Amino acid sequence: MNIAVIGLQFGDEGKGKIVDYLAEDFDIIARYSGGSNAGHSVLHNGKKFKLHLIPSGVLRGKIGVLGNGMAIDFSVLDEEFSSLKEEGIEPRIKISSRAHVVTSFHKIMDEREDEIIGIGTTRRGIGPTYETKVKRVGIRVGDVFDDNVMLKRLKLATKLWGIYYEKEVEKEARAIKEQVRKFKEFIVDTEIWLNEAIRAGKNVLFEGSQAALLDVDFGTYPFVTSSNTISGGMLSGLGVPPRVIDKIVGVMKPYMTRVGAGPFPTEIFGDIAKELRDKGNEYGATTGRPRRIGWLDLPLLRYAALVGGVDEIALTKVDILEGMKKIPVAFEYDCNGKRKYPPLHIENCKPIYNELDGWESIEDDNLWNYVRMIEKEAGAKVRIVSYGASREDTKLIG
Ligand code: IMP
Repeated sequence: MNIAVIGLQFGDEGKGKIVDYLAEDFDIIARYSGGSNAGHSVLHNGKKFKLHLIPSGVLRGKIGVLGNGMAIDFSVLDEEFSSLKEEGIEPRIKISSRAHVVTSFHKIMDEREDEIIGIGTTRRGIGPTYETKVKRVGIRVGDVFDDNVMLKRLKLATKLWGIYYEKEVEKEARAIKEQVRKFKEFIVDTEIWLNEAIRAGKNVLFEGSQAALLDVDFGTYPFVTSSNTISGGMLSGLGVPPRVIDKIVGVMKPYMTRVGAGPFPTEIFGDIAKELRDKGNEYGATTGRPRRIGWLDLPLLRYAALVGGVDEIALTKVDILEGMKKIPVAFEYDCNGKRKYPPLHIENCKPIYNELDGWESIEDDNLWNYVRMIEKEAGAKVRIVSYGASREDTKLIG
């Protein structure tokens, strides 16, 4: 059995926790997109771990794959690797020779470009790394072992950006070489390794990063990340065929959050937003930025579940809404006419709300009515409900 876990909202749905919860039954946890823009907080043996690049399943001794679709900052990887080792965890990882390397130049350009574009990126160099990949001047992990190739690409990239200074480029090339060399033993052609492992009967959990509504094709463009984050992204991001996925699990909260700029029709402000933000600790795991808060948006959920091909749902953080008398949910949009799905431009749509009864605890019928409503609207069964930070606060249904 191979499953994929993807986010159904704007990220930060609790994928890390769900992947950690499910990881027990899998041999391999494979990531296929993004890089250190992602941030997973996982509670393991009473200790909180923040992981950006390494799949959280390594905490349970599973093999973590960093696929070719990723943008890898080896300075972050080094920090993460060392912090896990300090806690007595020996991470078992495989890094794709075809993944692209984030250099200091990519991070500088992310800052400079975002000052102009205004997406509110995580400034981790992710967009510019995909940019150099598509411009065909990027550095793949395996390219680092050939001085000439690396130097040539770095020169071309910086020349295209108008920031070429010979000494700086040579210095960066040396730094990258040193960073990547430390991980030499983990670098493989993961597309071969993974397909052979699947053929040999190993179970793989495909871990999505960011979320459907931040997907470069299906998200709220241009306020999106630079990769395909829906389940489809794993095919090109790991080099596996579609038939290997047996099930797709979408992770969502009963409310919504968003970090950075971009449309958010159900966004709320004021006291309730502040209360939910604090109760839910809704601050960016990567940047610490306060997350924007909003009610559940069913047009966006229906769309994300549809394009993500979701079979089952994991609903997280139901405890955060506990104690609310009524919970507004946007069932439709009014964009010069009612819409069940979001149109291309959602900026001018007004959500049409219904209020549902709130719940007091996990046992409360009102919570289970809310769950059934989600199942009906998303067209997928809710199989996991999570109501607290630790692994134990998770209920498996059916
Ligand atoms: P980038 O991925 O750093 O280019 O940022 C593009 C957009 O995606 C920004 O709005 C970020 O806040 C958002 N983003 C990227 N990664 C995450 C994530 O892991 N969680 C939530 N938002 C994210």
